[in-house]
Amino acid sequence: SEERLRRVRERVRPFADFPVPGVLFRDISPLLKDPAAFRALLDLLEAHLRASFPHIDFIAGLDSRGFLIGPPLAQRLGIGFVLIRKKGKLPGPTESISYALEYGKAELEIQSDAVEPGQKVVIVDDLLATGGTMRAACELLGRLKAEILECLVVIELRSLKGAEKLPSVPLHSLLQYD
Ligand code: PRP
Ligand code: HPA
Repeated sequence: SEERLRRVRERVRPFADFPVPGVLFRDISPLLKDPAAFRALLDLLEAHLRASFPHIDFIAGLDSRGFLIGPPLAQRLGIGFVLIRKKGKLPGPTESISYALEYGKAELEIQSDAVEPGQKVVIVDDLLATGGTMRAACELLGRLKAEILECLVVIELRSLKGAEKLPSVPLHSLLQYD
C-alpha cells in the first residue's frame, strides 16, 4: 500500500503559476496516462471505502475531474455514480448553488431525483483546494437529504485549509501537499 501510494505520488506533476500567478497547480495528467499508477489509485480508494463503510448507495463525482475517478471506483464497488455538474448542463429539475474557487467563481448543479432522502453517498474529486467546490457539493446533496458518508479526494492542498470548510463531513485524502 505504501508502494501503491508512491506510484500515485510519482505521477502528480507540479506547475508553477497556472492558471494564474501564485498558484502551484497539481496536474494529474501523468497519473491518467500510466495505467499501473491509475490502477494503484483505484486499488487504494476501493480498499479505503470497503474498510470504512459497510454500505454505500452512490459515488457522487464533481465536474470535471471527479468524473475521471468516480465512475471506475463506483464500478469496482458495484454501485452507481451520480453527476454534480457545472451549471446549465443537466436536464430536468435541478438544485443549484454558486461558490468561490481558488481562482474564480462557478455554479454547481445536481438533478433533483439524483438520490433519495437517506441514501448514503461518498463525494469524489481529484483535489481539495479552498474547499469551496466540495462544500457546495455537500450543500446540494444536503438539499436532497442524502447522508454524506465522506468527501474523498486524491490530493489535499493543506495550506488552503479546505477541510475546515466542510460542514461536519469527514474528509479523506490520499496525498497531502502544503
Ligand atoms: C478544480 C478541482 C476541484 C476544485 C478544487 O476544478 O478539480 O474540483 O477545483 O478547488 P476548491 O477546493 O478551491 O473549490 P475546477 O473548478 O478547476 O474545474 P475542472 O475540474 O473542470 O477543471
Ligand atoms: N491543481 C489542480 N487543480 C486545482 C488546483 C491545483 O493546484 N487548485 C484548484 N484546483
